Amino acid sequence: MAELLIGQTLAFCGNPLVDGSDAARHSAHGGVLVDSGRIVAVGEGDDLRRAHPEAAVTDYGAALISAGFVDAHVHFPQTGIIASWGKRLIDWLNTYTFPEEMRFADPAHASEVAERYFDLALAHGTTSMCSYATIHPESVDAFFAAAKARGLRAWAGKTCMDRNAPEGLCDTAQSAHDDSARLLAKWHGVDRLSYVITPRFSPTSSPEQLSALGALWAAHPDCLMQTHLSEQTDEIAWVRDLFPNARDYLDTYEAHGLLGRNGVYGHAIHLTPRERARLSEVGAALIHCPTSNTFIGSGLFDMAGLSAEGQRIGLATDTGGGSSFSMLRTMASAYEVAQLRHNPLHPSALWWLATAGSAAALRAGDRIGNLAPGMEADLVVVDLASTPAIAQRAARAETFWEALFPTIMMGDDRAIRDVRVAGRRLAARPAPPRLPPAGIFGPR
Ligand code: GUN
Ligand code: ZN
Repeated sequence: MAELLIGQTLAFCGNPLVDGSDAARHSAHGGVLVDSGRIVAVGEGDDLRRAHPEAAVTDYGAALISAGFVDAHVHFPQTGIIASWGKRLIDWLNTYTFPEEMRFADPAHASEVAERYFDLALAHGTTSMCSYATIHPESVDAFFAAAKARGLRAWAGKTCMDRNAPEGLCDTAQSAHDDSARLLAKWHGVDRLSYVITPRFSPTSSPEQLSALGALWAAHPDCLMQTHLSEQTDEIAWVRDLFPNARDYLDTYEAHGLLGRNGVYGHAIHLTPRERARLSEVGAALIHCPTSNTFIGSGLFDMAGLSAEGQRIGLATDTGGGSSFSMLRTMASAYEVAQLRHNPLHPSALWWLATAGSAAALRAGDRIGNLAPGMEADLVVVDLASTPAIAQRAARAETFWEALFPTIMMGDDRAIRDVRVAGRRLAARPAPPRLPPAGIFGPR
């Protein structure tokens, strides 16, 4: 049966990074008609009430109805090590990430973390995500099983590494290819799930492994391929040592069949002019992970320059390198990074990046990330006065953008009033785990 959601609404008819805030459509008294998991109509609330008297009405008052957030780059296995102190990228991987990822050889651990990750993501209003798993096929199964049970549109792939990682976290060129191919056949296109070919990054893949995954991608060009690119200067120097014949970091992928229009490159901070030109030429996607870039100390993404060049850009938490599950917090961090580059991002651009922009980066902009007839009804309802601090600032706003911005800058999961996945209400605020008695610490 049709349901009519009433509230403020925010949709996009273009990219505010390019077209300005005129590309956003806000209604103070809007409506979204949903039926059979899809958006049927978007318009003024009163008009839709009159036109569809048969629809059940859910009135969210002054709360904002938007497309659900799309997190275009996350590591669900790193849920438990988010906010780990004091390291830069390579030390952070060796100290915190790899030991944690080793634990995913145990399918029970993989399932437990996948369930916890999805509960957290949904509680923060994120309805779609593109995740790295670990090298263990079981971790991919755990992710997709949990996403399937929730009816989510989600992407993931087995992370491939055959060098410069602990022995227990290394596959081979052949097994990475074969395991990835098997997982792709098992999950790609099942319900709303998509497999992503996933070499972690050039330092942890031999040229043979990169070539094997390039060949797999050539056989499945409709799949996305995700990896990391030019995140930290130390990492780039290491890549130069490991691939002395490569023109630059991107060339280590390009030379092995891993550059293409369905390529999704995380971070992309320290790019050379040649890399920028090639990325825009092929129409690849660059994923900005601002809380990670400040937390791990990586650098300042050039949002203004890259979007002026016409690059496709999405936004992501990159948890657990990123320090939050919240795409609101991620928008705030993107704003701060842009300020440090003297290019403040308008709230419309921030919201677009977290919804339609990330969806387009994942080549799903025609299905998710916006309010429009025919789109899948993955929605978030945001309370724009969720804390006293936010409410007192929003109360004196003179425009919608001024009312929205305090929630972008100070909001978190307390702002998430409701979440719909294919029209169904899904978010359950996870109960916080019980803390150990004071003074007793250790791995869990
Ligand atoms: N580069 C290679 N692996 C990772 C990872 O897990 N997180 C981040 N932020 N960067 C990486
Ligand atoms: Zn990452």
